Amino acid sequence: MDQSNRPTHGGNLVWAASLAGCPVNQILDFSASINPLGLGSGVISALQQHLLDIDKYPTPGYLELRQALAKHLQVSPEWILPGNGAAELLTWAGRELAQYQTILPTPAFNDYGRALQAFSAPVTTMPLVDQQGTWLDLEQILDNPVIPTRAALLLNNPHNPSGALWTTETLLPLLDRFSLVVVDESFMDFVSPSQSLIPWVEKYDNLVVISSLTKFYSLPGLRLGYCVAHPDRLARWQSWRDPWAVNRLAEVAGIAALNDQEFIDRTWNWYNYYQPKLFTGLQQVPNLEVYPSAANFFLLRTVQPFTMVQAKLLQQFQIFARDCMSFPELGAYYGRVALKSEAENQRLLTALTEICA
Ligand SMILES: Cc1ncc(COP(=O)(O)O)c(C=O)c1O
Repeated sequence: MDQSNRPTHGGNLVWAASLAGCPVNQILDFSASINPLGLGSGVISALQQHLLDIDKYPTPGYLELRQALAKHLQVSPEWILPGNGAAELLTWAGRELAQYQTILPTPAFNDYGRALQAFSAPVTTMPLVDQQGTWLDLEQILDNPVIPTRAALLLNNPHNPSGALWTTETLLPLLDRFSLVVVDESFMDFVSPSQSLIPWVEKYDNLVVISSLTKFYSLPGLRLGYCVAHPDRLARWQSWRDPWAVNRLAEVAGIAALNDQEFIDRTWNWYNYYQPKLFTGLQQVPNLEVYPSAANFFLLRTVQPFTMVQAKLLQQFQIFARDCMSFPELGAYYGRVALKSEAENQRLLTALTEICA
């Protein structure tokens, strides 16, 4: 198989379809971890109602969106900056992190590398998993004399791709230890009770939390995320970026999504029942290890190279699972699958059982 164009992010359906030899719309995508309930009715009607508003610029300062986020997150609007996806905000985090030696526990979401490299940020990677495949304690890893005094930490909680979750109690001491702590909480909406550090942002001005509406609200194509941090830091980020980073439709859809309690409740009902059910189902697949996850995806380790499992899933079942070739610490035997609807999860389990047996 040609490795040169292997995707480094989930959701590359064109690549998957070329391997499966079928049209893109026949691929069942387990590679991107997006809520399968799709768009909430509140979002759809907001988009329909405001479609023609794109003949105007977005609202300066995004006050209404920031107020909706503030209500949702229980933090003042001045401490919130909406962005063109979490990915855009990671860019500005990269610029801030470049002032320090950044400690990056790995494997890590691929886009961190882009954001850090864009500003030539000095980075020290610290593997969360050893050569034998044993996952290590975060405290143990960070208890390392090579970490300089003026260091920053870039962490993802819950962690993609492992699904690991660090509690607030584990993370809070790090705020005294590091000059800057950036936590990407893009999957935190799926965690209950939440372990978000957002309630501590007003107390620690060296804390930056970045999150996304992509995953829980099923809005990957719209691009909407937010950062919660000290207002001075956010003013600085705003001065660095384009004045209209969040488009008008993302603005209205974001407000509608956050106010759509019916969709939020429905998502919780689906998640609470089917997340443990898929975990149990995956545990029963022969020659496959599944890692416990606090999010809407599972990390897998297979006896045959996962890249082979991935190819068979595509060619025989048109199912697209994420390989972990872009995470050098993991490599060929690891894969990741998203949680989807019951029927889709069942299709995955049947296919994996046949391929791995
Ligand atoms: C950990 C993590 N952070 C951020 C993102 C990007 O989120 P957004 O779509 O809001 O840019 C992703 C997307 O896969 C992710 O996995």
